[in-house]
Amino acid sequence: MTGEPKIIAGNWKMHKTLVEGQSFLDEFLPLIGGCGEGDAAIILAPNFTLLSAFASRCQDVGIGLAAQNCHTETAGAFTGETSVGMLTAIGVTHVLVGHSERRALFAEDDALLHRKVQTVMEAGLVPIFCVGETLAERQEQQHQAVVERQLQCGLAGLAGHRLLVAYEPVWAIGTGKTATVGDAQEMHSFIRRVLDSCFEGSGRIPILYGGSVKPDNAAQLMSQPDVDGVLVGGASLVAADFARIVAAAGAR
Ligand code: PGA
Repeated sequence: MTGEPKIIAGNWKMHKTLVEGQSFLDEFLPLIGGCGEGDAAIILAPNFTLLSAFASRCQDVGIGLAAQNCHTETAGAFTGETSVGMLTAIGVTHVLVGHSERRALFAEDDALLHRKVQTVMEAGLVPIFCVGETLAERQEQQHQAVVERQLQCGLAGLAGHRLLVAYEPVWAIGTGKTATVGDAQEMHSFIRRVLDSCFEGSGRIPILYGGSVKPDNAAQLMSQPDVDGVLVGGASLVAADFARIVAAAGAR
């Protein structure tokens, strides 16, 4: 092992029923052995309907459990929404905030996301704050400006709490196109500089790469000095593939 464990997070999006999720764990857990210590720290983000059932199984083996969303308010007349208190009560540890699908499909803007990050932090949960540019923004050489704005607007004034950041170029999500290792490292080091200036003295904030991470490219991505882990969508749905990505954390 070299340095801090890499963080391997799986985002299941709107996939897997409870039974399917349980059989994933039945297959996955023996493949990874004890993962509480070592090269990888694993986090799973299944659908809300699986969180309760997953909590103790994940806790027993040191896997973090993330919700894919939450509301900004802690209670109230918000039909269909889930509060951070409901998540902490069942043993959730992390919350995805600002995933590009939430930004694009559910109109979550910078101001709303800032409130969500704050609510998550105040509940003692760890936000996994996602940022990333679209293809058009990259082609116009706006990728750094866009990501800087997302970070500054989303995280302003929120120093002093635990936080993970995920850089997920929108054009790489679910497309099979991954950023080159050089592009990923360049953006991660840029993000680190932005975070260092927003959160002076907060220590190293882990930055995960996401966007078509697969067993075959995970080790190379994680070999980069500013890539502290990966956020995996499609490949996290297949136990054998996700286990290979976990193993890649030790192969760098
Ligand atoms: P993908 O998704 O690995 O399927 O590209 C990543 C994500 O959306 O977090």
